[in-house]
Amino acid sequence: MANDQEKEAAARASLRFIQDGQVVGLGTGSTAAYFIKLLGEQVKQGMRIRGIPTSDRSRDLAMSQGIPLTTLDECQDIAVTVDGADEVDPQLRLIKGGGGAMLREKIVASATKQMIVVADASKRVERLGKFPLPVEVIKFAKALIAKRISALGAQVNLRRNSDGSPYITDENNHILDCRFGEIRDADQLGRQLSEMPGVVEHGLFIGMASVALLARGSEIIELRR
Ligand code: A5P
Repeated sequence: MANDQEKEAAARASLRFIQDGQVVGLGTGSTAAYFIKLLGEQVKQGMRIRGIPTSDRSRDLAMSQGIPLTTLDECQDIAVTVDGADEVDPQLRLIKGGGGAMLREKIVASATKQMIVVADASKRVERLGKFPLPVEVIKFAKALIAKRISALGAQVNLRRNSDGSPYITDENNHILDCRFGEIRDADQLGRQLSEMPGVVEHGLFIGMASVALLARGSEIIELRR
């Protein structure tokens, strides 16, 4: 089965976690986009939910699907968030941010009771780190932080658009993609990165996801923490 069908199948499997009346966090990325479209269908059929998007593009997509939106200013308790991931380990620790939205994604996840990860099963890993870890940094500090993260053993690249210009996040920062290889101690690395002045957020999501729905062919593998 093609990857896209698996992404859609994982997104569809998450619908049973959504109940009428809830505030729902809307993730970012190609798998979360399937979820937003499927949720839009539920709304058209009468489901009453309000969404909090994790990026400008998910907001635009949700609006185009007729999903009523709210904001963290109005509501700080999110029942369920459905979001994708770049890697998922057996403890449901994640690498996120391949799509550049991990700052708002992590903020929304932190305000969420039940975070559901949807992905195709290729995202499942024994150990995090093959996927370059995205680190969002303020522009002023990018070179300094790149040097400090390199000293931790990573190969660090400033993320760029296809025209070569530096990638800019929704919050007007840059992203450093940090290739660590296998991350031995994700908790410690997360703390080290968070302590660096100028790091806004990093893509390690630890202790946040409660369920992962991973599609492999027509099968959905459900992992729980
Ligand atoms: C967005 O910033 C990311 O965290 C995505 O959730 C992640 O990159 C997964 O994206 P795909 O569903 O497109 O693989």
